[in-house]
Amino acid sequence: MSKENSHLRSILETVGVVLGSFIFAMVVIVTVTTGNSPEATLVVENKIVEEKATEADVKPVAEVKVAEVAAGETAGSGSISGEQITQKNCALCHAGGLMNSPKIGDKDQWAPRIAQGKEMLVNNAINGIRTMPAKGGNPSLSDAEVAAAVVWMANSSGGNL
Ligand code: HEC
Repeated sequence: MSKENSHLRSILETVGVVLGSFIFAMVVIVTVTTGNSPEATLVVENKIVEEKATEADVKPVAEVKVAEVAAGETAGSGSISGEQITQKNCALCHAGGLMNSPKIGDKDQWAPRIAQGKEMLVNNAINGIRTMPAKGGNPSLSDAEVAAAVVWMANSSGGNL
């Protein structure tokens, strides 16, 4: 065997080893990534089971909350809706006594106003008085809604309307 021949053979051998390991690596990669191995299938199935479980866990809680809200809105239209109307339309000023408005819960500030009587208070809230805007600035409120808010506010501040 000539010197060149053996040199050529060693080159071919090297190429063969490199090619061989390359093909082997490709086969491994393809097998793993196509997800045909049993481990991969198992992981996917577990994930689906987990997702179904969390869905089932969350659903009843959400339903209970909806039921609670529905009950709260229908139960006793008096005090509860008066409170809700107040929170939405009046608390902006009356919660903190903004613009010198009588603060909800402050009996001293409310006593002389409550002393005017319910009718006068409600009228003043509906029509506005000095810096107090008519209906608290929300004309879409009905007179009855404003009255409910007045009753709730006054009764939360030492009154008994
Ligand atoms: C922009 C601020 C503001 C909002 C919003 C507001 N008020 Fe007032 N309110 C006042 C101020 C200021 C006074 C005090 C007016 C005065 O006596 O000079 C007042 C006074 C009142 C009084 C006492 C009236 C009286 O005869 O002494 C009632 C009752 C009242 N508000 C009800 C309400 C109701 C009900 C709402 C919501 C529907 C509301 N207010 C929203 C500012 C506000």
